[in-house]
Amino acid sequence: MHKQGAIARYRRKMADKQRRRSSESAEVETGLSLHHIDKAHVNHTLFEPSKAVRVESHVSSMEEYRRLYDQSISDPALFWSSIAKQFYWKEPWNDATVHSYNFDRRNGKIFVEWFKGGKTNVCYNVLDHQIKAKGSGDRVAFYWVGNDPAHSRSITYSELLVDVCKFANVLKAQGVKKGDRVAIYMPMVIELVVAMLACARIGAVHSIVFGGFSADSLANRMIDAKSAVLVTADGVYRGSKLIHLKEIADQAVEKCKAKEFSVRRCIVLQSLKKEEVKGEASPAKRRHIGLPWNDSIDVWWADVMETASDECEPEWLDAEDPLFMLYTSGSTGKPKGVLHTNGGYFVYAATTFKYSFDHQPNDVFWCTADIGWITGHTYITYGPMANSATSILFEGVPTYPQCDRFWTICEEYKVTKFYTAPTAIRTLMKFSDESVTKHDLSSLKAIGTVGEPINPEAWHWYYNVVGGKRCSVPDTYWQTETGGHVITPLPGATPMKAGSATLPFFGIQPVLVDKNGIEIEGEAEGYLCLKKPWPGIMRTVYGDHDRFESTYFDLFKGYYFTGDGAFRDRDGYYWITGRADDVINVSGHRIGTAEVESALVEHPSVVEAAVVGRPHEVKTESMYCFVTLKQGAVFDETVIKELKLKVREKIGPFATPDVVQNAPALPKTRSGKIMRRILRKVAQNDRNMGDVSTLADSSVVEELFTNRID
Ligand code: PRX
Repeated sequence: MHKQGAIARYRRKMADKQRRRSSESAEVETGLSLHHIDKAHVNHTLFEPSKAVRVESHVSSMEEYRRLYDQSISDPALFWSSIAKQFYWKEPWNDATVHSYNFDRRNGKIFVEWFKGGKTNVCYNVLDHQIKAKGSGDRVAFYWVGNDPAHSRSITYSELLVDVCKFANVLKAQGVKKGDRVAIYMPMVIELVVAMLACARIGAVHSIVFGGFSADSLANRMIDAKSAVLVTADGVYRGSKLIHLKEIADQAVEKCKAKEFSVRRCIVLQSLKKEEVKGEASPAKRRHIGLPWNDSIDVWWADVMETASDECEPEWLDAEDPLFMLYTSGSTGKPKGVLHTNGGYFVYAATTFKYSFDHQPNDVFWCTADIGWITGHTYITYGPMANSATSILFEGVPTYPQCDRFWTICEEYKVTKFYTAPTAIRTLMKFSDESVTKHDLSSLKAIGTVGEPINPEAWHWYYNVVGGKRCSVPDTYWQTETGGHVITPLPGATPMKAGSATLPFFGIQPVLVDKNGIEIEGEAEGYLCLKKPWPGIMRTVYGDHDRFESTYFDLFKGYYFTGDGAFRDRDGYYWITGRADDVINVSGHRIGTAEVESALVEHPSVVEAAVVGRPHEVKTESMYCFVTLKQGAVFDETVIKELKLKVREKIGPFATPDVVQNAPALPKTRSGKIMRRILRKVAQNDRNMGDVSTLADSSVVEELFTNRID
């Protein structure tokens, strides 16, 4: 017995060693590195959906989930077309070919098509169709809640349709046509939804840039997409901080000009309330005070809307015509314009919203994300509106004016489904439980998370304190590229495990592969890939189809590679272990380390830079930068400040590095590749280096430990 135990231990040790070796060589060969699951986090205790949630849910048992899931896999064309038929199609798609695709580069070009030949319009479907077919005209589409608790308004589906048609006509009058790209750089206001739906109505492609991006980022995105029309606002308060959006937009327009791209028109919403603006606030006068104004391109939103007609026939678009693009970071310095199309994205957004949040007619849904990210696109605008939902649109931040802002709003509006990021949960759990429990949150039924792995401690707090042990917790795993949730529990069906995104959504076939792209069965860790296309998958990288193919389909042939690692447990549940590529996740914001590195090396004193993520208890990861300075340059507080500023300027304040460390030399392989695995160890002060035999000069490492900063 004793001897057998020793043999088993020895075998495990050898297997572990083997696994470490193969993941090390995988790093060198593929540039990927897997984060291993912390087994202490894996607890198999099941949290069953409460009866109250289950009885009213669309899918109320695992048997029902499995039945639908099996259908979606065995006959995806039938499964998705019967859902798509619930929406309005001006002309049907070709029934014989509901979808076609190639996921394998060895068979030629990668492509995915759904409902091709079908003519539809997403704006028509979320407004006119909801009003006409479902009688939702008088239903509130959005309760808008301002950063300042004194500011709020609401808008119904009918009212929204009027504004959207007017703005669609405004865009047309500015020469915007089907297929043109329109940049949108706005705060979280109803007009942002109006602008995006107006684009959708006329077949223009919206390219929304999160309001936390810098002028440089905005300019680069406008140039890449050739967006000659920009929609922005004067400014916005986030908490107590005023962000001068128009000033940033102006700088971006200048930067475009310097790179020989002219922005033709800038439509400016007056978003700040009169009392928030010093001095005279009427638009006519404000253009001559304070707010910078360029008469040749700037027009006020209110002025151009005043005379616009409120009727606008939608442009009937092919299901595969583009709906929007959204930039996201990857392993290179240049963000990618992820492109989504009308038919597939829309059907997938509508379906995931309905099932993952188990949407019911009387729900008040609140997704706290910014519309500038994919979560806001899919689960503030398109998904909820496709279901005639009533949502909260929140302009502010979780801790302003007090740390109970979220819970105050949930109580006031009787929110039933709430959706936020683990970072926000970890921030709010630092305050007393009483700041939550003093509010009546009994309306809540499902409380979801998105954007980062949720650690079990935060999960339990959310489940117990916010959800009162009766709410389901959909931990929704997905990406800008997937369009909607791909792995998530369903509130009425799936027993949850704290920290696991659980099981695949309908139509999704997740697989784990090893470094050679071989599928691994059963309980295992590996690179998370998806096989077979679902309707919401991105179709291309705008203007660069090669990049689409090489980023997602080159490494593991025949699969879409998510860029993440995952652990699949004995029950088939997935636990996401984080990015395996050079992307870090800071407070749910995806940041490409190469982008930060290229900003850092623009500083005149820097010759080389390498950026890694370091685990952080609130932000998931913090950003840790290593810089090598030119000979003679002094590493001091001034340089650190300048470098942080450089990153803010090039990317935006949300990407400000947490730590900048002096690195007289970086650890490299003999072929000159930076060994980030070692840098991660230095950042974490972990001397357990593993195999360093490929390191060209091992003395570098000791120096890095000496210089490290806590
Ligand atoms: O690493 C995964 C993480 O966020 C990445 C996608 O980022 P983005 O495209 O900005 O979209 C964020 C919102 C969908 C993924 O590759 N991620 C997202 N959701 C989860 C997650 N990691 C763990 N658990 C999740 N629920």
